[in-house]
Order: sequence, then C-alpha cells, then structure tokens
Amino acid sequence: MDNRSGTINQEIPMLAERDIESCYLGQFIPLHYHHNMLMDQRRMKNFREAISQVVFPGAKVLELGGGTGVLSFFAAATAEKVWCVEFNPDMVDEARRLLARNAHGHKIEVIQADAFAYLPPEPVDVVICEMIHVGMLREKQVDVMASFKQRYLARFGGPLPLFVPDAVIMAVQPLQLDYDFEGFNAPIVQFRELTREADDTLEMAEPQVYCTMDFQGDVDPEIRWSGHFTMAHSGTVSSLRFITKNILAVLLDQQTTIDWLNNFMILPLDAPVDVVAGDVLQVSFGYRAGGSLPSLQLTMTASVVARVSDLTPA
Ligand SMILES: C[S@@+](CC[C@H](N)C(=O)[O-])C[C@H]1O[C@@H](n2cnc3c(N)ncnc32)[C@H](O)[C@@H]1O
Repeated sequence: MDNRSGTINQEIPMLAERDIESCYLGQFIPLHYHHNMLMDQRRMKNFREAISQVVFPGAKVLELGGGTGVLSFFAAATAEKVWCVEFNPDMVDEARRLLARNAHGHKIEVIQADAFAYLPPEPVDVVICEMIHVGMLREKQVDVMASFKQRYLARFGGPLPLFVPDAVIMAVQPLQLDYDFEGFNAPIVQFRELTREADDTLEMAEPQVYCTMDFQGDVDPEIRWSGHFTMAHSGTVSSLRFITKNILAVLLDQQTTIDWLNNFMILPLDAPVDVVAGDVLQVSFGYRAGGSLPSLQLTMTASVVARVSDLTPA
C-alpha cells in the first residue's frame, strides 16, 4: 500500500483495498461527472452513429460499464436485447430510472456486476465498452476487454462479437507551454478541449503515433516508446501532449471510420529542454494501460540527440 491509499484508508476505514485502488484509477466515476459525458456532443453523436451502424435488427448487445445507460439506449433502438452491466450501485439505480423514461427501455436489462466477471447468458453480436481515458490510462478498458474475450471464448467459443470501439490510435507531441497562472508558475497536468484557442502553447513538432490497439485481436497492455522529433521552432520543450483517437466503428463498405478524439492531456516534463529549430529531440516513456498518470509521467524523458549547430557548416 502506498502513502496515498494509506491516507484514504485512515479517512475511510471501511473501504476495501480493491475499492481504494478503484477510486484512484478511474473506476469510480461520480454521478455529476456523467452529466459532463452526456454533454460531450462529439462523444455522444459519434457513439450514437457508430452504434447505429454496427447494431443490426435482432442483434444481442452487451454493454460493459453502462453508467447512465445512454449507449445501451442507442443500441436498443435497433437491437432485440441489451444487457447493460454497471458496477456502481448508485449508477445502476440511475440507469434504471433514466432508461424507464426513454424509448426501448424494456429491451435493456441493467445488471449490477463487475465487468471483469460478468458474461451474458447467451452469445452476443456486439459489445460496447466505454471505459476510456486519454492514453488508455486510469480506466480499465484494455484489461476489461482482454478478460471478457478470454472468458467469452471459454464459455461460448468463437466467433467473438464486434467491439465498439474497434481500435485506438495514440500519439504524442512535444510542446512549449509557459505554465504561468497570473504570475504563479505551476507545471501540472492539464486536460484541454480540442477547440480551445491556446495562445500559451507552441507545437514544437508534429505529433507521432506511439501505439495502436486493435480490440478485435490481442492487445499488449504494456506500452514502451522512444522516438525522434525534429524541432520546428527554437524554444523550450516543457511538456508532452497525449492525443487519443478512438476508432468507434470501421465502415468497410463506405471506406471510412467513425472516430472520437479525447480531450488532449498535457503532462509537464520534469526537466524542460532548450532547443533550436532543426535540433533532433529524443522522447521516451512507458506505462501500463489502466495505470495512473504519475506512472507515465515518472518515465517521461526528453533530450537533444543531434544539435543543428553540429550539422551546419560554420
Ligand atoms: C466512462 S463511464 C461511461 C458510462 C457510459 N457508458 C457512457 O458512455 O456514458 C465508465 C462506466 O464504467 C463503470 N465501471 C467501471 N469499472 C467497472 C467494472 N469493473 N464493472 C462494471 N462497470 C464498471 C463506471 O462506474 C462508469 O459508470
């Protein structure tokens, strides 16, 4: 047990060790945060579109981590039956209350269960799982999907159902950010809206993809990356921006995909690096999917491996 869980343990002595870790690592999402998720129009619109493309009339659907039940509601518009699994008892009550107010609610069975243990009573055609955080950190999407596939194949054999999301692409980009808040210098983690104007931010190089995961196949939860960026500007690389694009559905016949881009996450480097345009910066980091933000941040390194001044004739 680390210091943080020790503190929590003293404050909330009744919490079991597993629940303490869950609170920290994104498994417990309070009710008021579900309103933010419902308000996220890109997320809602694109999930609705993807689900309507993937779920066919008569389909059996399983949702893991149902929250308010909104994605099950989208599925029930076409599906014959939806099992909606949610761990948090308060959210189970809330999902039942909300689904009863909406069309097709009678097709959805809300079940209070752990997605790491639950299997539907019969094979399903589609599995929806939105336990997604930038970089696949904190929330347990990757482990839940892996556990589900293994247990599903053992009980029902193949084929596996289709998964929503189908895949994820993750990229990283070095930034210059001043971290000045009315004169108060505070290099801390930030989450930024995709549309927000960012006068305080300079993109020091184009983003590079560091990991792709295909949920239809086997996914390695261990992520290790090292890569080189040629600096587009002179300045100070102070942070890394993490970009996560979820491929919700692949529409082969239309040769397109339906995607959902998470808000950007920006993590400050422990040791900012002064660079000149043309320098080559090496960046490396590693973490386990589902791990904490510090577990990534502690591994982040950046250093200049080729100075432009050494490359240009005097
Ligand atoms: C990011 S929210 C998404 C909620 C909903 N699907 C939506 O899209 O609005 C993830 C949900 O998964 C639930 N959850 C997390 N871990 C779980 C587990 N092991 N078993 C079942 N539900 C879980 C959380 O309580 C939360 O409601």
